[in-house]
Amino acid sequence: MEPRTSVIEKRLKNIHRIIAVASGKGGVGKSMVASHLALHLAKQGHRVGILDLDLYGPSCHIILGVKHQFPTEEKGIIPPVIHGISFMSIVYFTEEKPSPFRGIDISNIILELLAITQWGHLDFLIIDMPPGIGDETLDVIRYMKNSEFLVVTTPSKVALGAVRKLLSILIELKKPLLGVVENMTMSDSAFIEQEVQRLQVKYLGKIHFDHTLEESIGNPDLLLKTQVMKDLGRALTTIQL
Ligand SMILES: Nc1ncnc2c1ncn2[C@@H]1O[C@H](COP(=O)(O)OP(=O)(O)OP(=O)(O)O)[C@@H](O)[C@H]1O
Ligand SMILES: [Mg+2]
Repeated sequence: MEPRTSVIEKRLKNIHRIIAVASGKGGVGKSMVASHLALHLAKQGHRVGILDLDLYGPSCHIILGVKHQFPTEEKGIIPPVIHGISFMSIVYFTEEKPSPFRGIDISNIILELLAITQWGHLDFLIIDMPPGIGDETLDVIRYMKNSEFLVVTTPSKVALGAVRKLLSILIELKKPLLGVVENMTMSDSAFIEQEVQRLQVKYLGKIHFDHTLEESIGNPDLLLKTQVMKDLGRALTTIQL
């Protein structure tokens, strides 16, 4: 029995909903969707936290423009609040250095992060998941029992192939699935929607490819006005949040 389990349960006890933004595939926009989702919910007045669990390539701090805000230590660590979002990332421990972890290290780091972070009361904790279906996914499923998954794909058959695998694992493990969002679309094709529905998973909608998105990265005020934010907001109206 992992001794940190009971500490983790205590730490997560006052978090109403945990939403893991995942995909079987890399580079599909998980971090972008997770950051926009956190900002969207905070704007609506919810208490929101974000946990960047991408140990190899953390990026939420870049998207949200987190620079000189650090956690404070007090019987664990309290994440800084940035634009209304309690922000926690592995980047606080690795800085910008590369972090080549092995599987066992990854699980240890995740457990440690979950055991030390004092989130307090949150309505939503958004988790930015790394690409693939590795230890991080299994640990979230194991240690964050009430977590729900929001899955991101692109219109590409290549992305869908990897997403299908993640979906089938989540379905097999009976994890709550909010649905699939199709990011970076450039056409009206219904291909992904049909394929997702064939798997009996909810299709939430399209987020268009946004040529101007890069200019908003690092600036939450601008992110709140992007096409991605508008499209994500529309997609979220199809589910109960
Ligand atoms: N809707 C969009 N329109 C335009 N560019 C986008 C869109 N969504 C994401 N991007 C861009 O695509 C790239 C990948 O996005 P992001 O880093 O969020 O993907 P990811 O799935 O988190 O990647 P990784 O698997 O490496 O963690 C980034 O440069 C991001 O700015
Ligand atoms: Mg990412």
